[in-house]
Amino acid sequence: MDQAETAGLAEAGALAGRFEEESSRVADRAAWEDLRLRWVGRKQGIVRTLLARTGEVPAADRRAWGQAVNTLKERVEGRLAELDAVLTEREREAVKRSAAVDVTLPGRRPLVGSLHPITRVNREMERIFAELGYSVAEGPEVETDYHNFEALNFPQDHPARDTQDTLFLKSGFLLRTHTSPVQIRTMLARKPPIRVICPGRVFRNDNDLRHSPMFHQVEGLAVAEGLTVGHLKGTLLAFLRRLFAPDVEIRLRPSFFPFTEPSAEVDVTCQSCKGQGCAVCSGTGWMEILGCGMVDPRVLDECGIDPDRYSGYAFGMGVDRVAMNRYGIANIRLLFDNDERLLRQVHG
Ligand code: DAH
Repeated sequence: MDQAETAGLAEAGALAGRFEEESSRVADRAAWEDLRLRWVGRKQGIVRTLLARTGEVPAADRRAWGQAVNTLKERVEGRLAELDAVLTEREREAVKRSAAVDVTLPGRRPLVGSLHPITRVNREMERIFAELGYSVAEGPEVETDYHNFEALNFPQDHPARDTQDTLFLKSGFLLRTHTSPVQIRTMLARKPPIRVICPGRVFRNDNDLRHSPMFHQVEGLAVAEGLTVGHLKGTLLAFLRRLFAPDVEIRLRPSFFPFTEPSAEVDVTCQSCKGQGCAVCSGTGWMEILGCGMVDPRVLDECGIDPDRYSGYAFGMGVDRVAMNRYGIANIRLLFDNDERLLRQVHG
């Protein structure tokens, strides 16, 4: 063995020792990757550099040099593969451990959804009226002046229009201020006998603790031969007793609506104090709950129903107020904030 060969082999041998030492310190994937790049990396790797130097080795020694470098290369690659297997196994174990179910942990309660207070009250009203033989009718929220006012006997320039705080649209349409236009649409489309309720959103330019620009009403309409105020009152009493409590009383106060004659406002025994008088009912013992009346013959006539043959009664009420009262909600805006805590509170 000549000197150059000995030197080459000695160098390869020293490097092998160094590699052993470095590889024994590899503890994780990052260190393994460093080691791999340092020794067999394509660009700067030690083995690659040694191979590149082969040309400098005297021709006679090249074979031995090449063999020594190859031996080193195989040794490095073999060891890297071993370490890779060990690390891969360890990584798999870690994934398994993190995905394992700890059966001793307390269970997580699934979130149970609940219906919005408005939806609940709406459904309750619909259910009660369904039992009384009413079906549900719907109409558009964007309305014409004709359906929202004119046909309901609110002539142009009639002062009753001022009470409605109407939101007009540029198109000439308006946002319905009440569900009463659905009465008109129903009578125009159907022949008596009619018994419908019309739940829906209505809109007014009004906004404070007790008023929201968007709120909910349920309208009722019955048209048939021989209907009287007695039928109206009996229906409302039956409805309100089911909605609130079997022992509530109602009282009718004379009022005015353009589309009914006579008209009344209906109060029901205050549910906060059971009629004793409290802050909620301003000490009166009564809560105002709805407006009603006998359909004005002019309205029947406008809708193509003969007022000499048929009569009708109608009523309309706010759903939001009932929901606020029932669930103890003081600010109407809470109903529309979509705060999950409110829904949890009224759940059940
Ligand atoms: N439309 C009335 C309002 O929003 C409520 C109402 C009163 C409806 C009397 C009726 C009724 O059907 O007969 O102020």
